[in-house]
Amino acid sequence: MATSAIVSIGAYVPSRVVTNDDLSKIMDTSDEWIRTRTGIHQRHMAVAEETTASMSFNAAQAALETAAMDAGDLDWILLCTDTPEMWTPATACFVQESLHAKKASAIDLTGGCAGFLQTLELADAAAQLGKTVMVIGTELLSRSMDWSDRSTAVLFGDGAGAVIVTPDRGHGIQLTHSRTYSDGSQTEILQKPYGGTRHAIPPEIVAHGGHHRIHMEGRKVFRHAVHRMSQAAREVLADMNMDVDTIDWVVPHQANQRILTAVADALHIPMDKVFSHVENYANTGSASIILALADMFQQDLILPQQRLISIAFGDGFSWGSAIWTVQSLPPTRFIGRDQ
Ligand code: UT7
Repeated sequence: MATSAIVSIGAYVPSRVVTNDDLSKIMDTSDEWIRTRTGIHQRHMAVAEETTASMSFNAAQAALETAAMDAGDLDWILLCTDTPEMWTPATACFVQESLHAKKASAIDLTGGCAGFLQTLELADAAAQLGKTVMVIGTELLSRSMDWSDRSTAVLFGDGAGAVIVTPDRGHGIQLTHSRTYSDGSQTEILQKPYGGTRHAIPPEIVAHGGHHRIHMEGRKVFRHAVHRMSQAAREVLADMNMDVDTIDWVVPHQANQRILTAVADALHIPMDKVFSHVENYANTGSASIILALADMFQQDLILPQQRLISIAFGDGFSWGSAIWTVQSLPPTRFIGRDQ
């Protein structure tokens, strides 16, 4: 049963663009390898003064301004990230202060690439209580890269997205149905193992700046991602008694092009219905679906009354799928978008 809607979208990517050729100057890789294996041509990366909170603020402010909404009307700020401003307090509190969202309760969630869909479910529940919720998906992944691990370091980019979720009043993107899942038996395949209570950050990493490092077994992630994303999409469609042909657009987590193609094949969906801009932005974790949505609306690709399906998979493992109905075009602003 539909209860909430996305009524505004804001997105932000840093102005610094790092191409595959740029990476080939600092590691043993090539534009040809990265393009062929991932479809990625470039990614945006934060400059030194930028942080997760500053990028999140830019996206959140864009979502408010484009809809002429007041930060004082926000009841919740739910911010999902794997790259927080600091351990505590929540990155959402920094954003709350910058926005002057005086009555908003602000909290972070760790959810990785599926985090936006998971956080959206919580926002949907809050909207059932009449709340207005800012959902932010945001990652500054370039500061968590192990630059000596070429198979992982080339995959990611930085960015932030924000959507405002309210009770469904017949406009914006209706959150028609969604399901999210987790399987904690696979935590070792994709993780940032150091700096928590289990493992201190090793001295050699501290010596090089001390940031947490992502560890990923790419092949295993690939296999799980394709299986879980297509399974989740089938389940939400079955729940709604909908045929895949009734879907106008797939708005997937922008993991990499080979994953998107494999999922589309598994679901028998033609690629021209699967939105991808992974070539420009790479994998921006929990920000990626919001950046994709923002780009699609800015390009006028989505029309009123269209049905969208979103799919995501990430660390945890966590994954999910959501069906959205476009009741009217939500105001959208994407700062730094590639033209
Ligand atoms: O939200 C989910 C996020 N996760 C992902 O999107 C990752 C999913 N995984 C993948 O997309 C793929 O597994 C990768 C793109 C990460 C890797 O592609 P692969 O086809 O699985 O390559 P591989 O790891 O099996 O490595 C093949 C070869 C190896 O060389 P040898 O041993 O055959 O000589 C690697 O050392 O490619 C080499 N290689 C590279 N060469 C140039 C790995 N990374 C690179 C690189 N540049 N960046």
